[in-house]
Amino acid sequence: MNELNDLVDRAQAEFLAVDQPAELENAKARYLGKSGALTALMKDLAALTGDARRERGAQINLAKQAVERALQQRRDALAEAELQQRLAAQAIDVTLPGRGQHAGGVHPVVRSWMRIEEIFRSIGFEVADGPEIEDDWTNFTALNSPQNHPARSMQDTFYVDLKDEHGQPLLLRTHTSPMQVRHARAHAARHAGAAAMPEVRVIAPGRTYRVDSDATHSPMFHQFEGLWIGEDVSLADLKGVYTGFLHAFFERDDITLRFRPSYFPFTEPSAEIDMMFDSGPLRGRWLEISGAGQVHPKVVRNFGLDPERHIGFAFGSGIERLTMLRYGIGDLRQFYAGDLRFLEQFNAA
Ligand code: DAH
Repeated sequence: MNELNDLVDRAQAEFLAVDQPAELENAKARYLGKSGALTALMKDLAALTGDARRERGAQINLAKQAVERALQQRRDALAEAELQQRLAAQAIDVTLPGRGQHAGGVHPVVRSWMRIEEIFRSIGFEVADGPEIEDDWTNFTALNSPQNHPARSMQDTFYVDLKDEHGQPLLLRTHTSPMQVRHARAHAARHAGAAAMPEVRVIAPGRTYRVDSDATHSPMFHQFEGLWIGEDVSLADLKGVYTGFLHAFFERDDITLRFRPSYFPFTEPSAEIDMMFDSGPLRGRWLEISGAGQVHPKVVRNFGLDPERHIGFAFGSGIERLTMLRYGIGDLRQFYAGDLRFLEQFNAA
């Protein structure tokens, strides 16, 4: 009897002494395995008979159950310890602030672009989009720019290492004006042969490129072209449309406009549109914001239209310039420096 108690005590002590599950299984084998201590005692029963055998058998069984209980307890304890260890190793600091979700924001120039589209749509203009890699004819020739026009020089224009079907090099468009040609030609072709053609009323915003870089010029910048062609469209209409646009864009009426005579090959007469705020920090300073004019008869002909019948105006304005005036930004390069402290101001939550 004592000998059985000792055996249980020894097994318990051995189980407690190990701290690896594999070692525990080895210890188990020494008691419950095929050649374990308890198994050997069971075998010895064969030598006994009758009550002595039954009694001894019951005692050995009790001892065996005690060893199995001790084994199971140690197994559970080791599994629990391992779990705790793993949890500690993977501990997360729940007091850290979350990473948050950044939705991104609208760039101030794009914000102006969207406003310009919205304003012109509201007065019946379409919005057209076209290629940034343009051919020489559409960017220059169709717009009545002579071969020796300075805009064609290597110093002013980014040429692309590709040629069009006439052997002329392709280029990054130097203005959005070629969209006048593309849009009006498509419009004229669509209505060819009809008794009357609906008016062309379109703006074409987009990126433009010139070899130019300082506080007020960037090699890539944005313009929006405007074109209104009908049978009775005059410079008075241009003045009305552009004045209404500026009032809507700046959300104020205290703006004075000036149409200053100028020269562009694709308009005659041509003007620079200057504006002036009548109040506020920029009060009283003339600011040049757009070129404009009555579309030159040669250009109307290049639209595929008859200049004796179709007449109208065009304008081309810089989106950066308007954005700088709207928000009071002094240096155009800030738009493209990628500084979040600058950009986030236009996307207040
Ligand atoms: N394309 C001219 C430029 O980039 C701007 C311009 C002037 C556009 C007069 C026009 C216009 O449509 O009529 O400097």
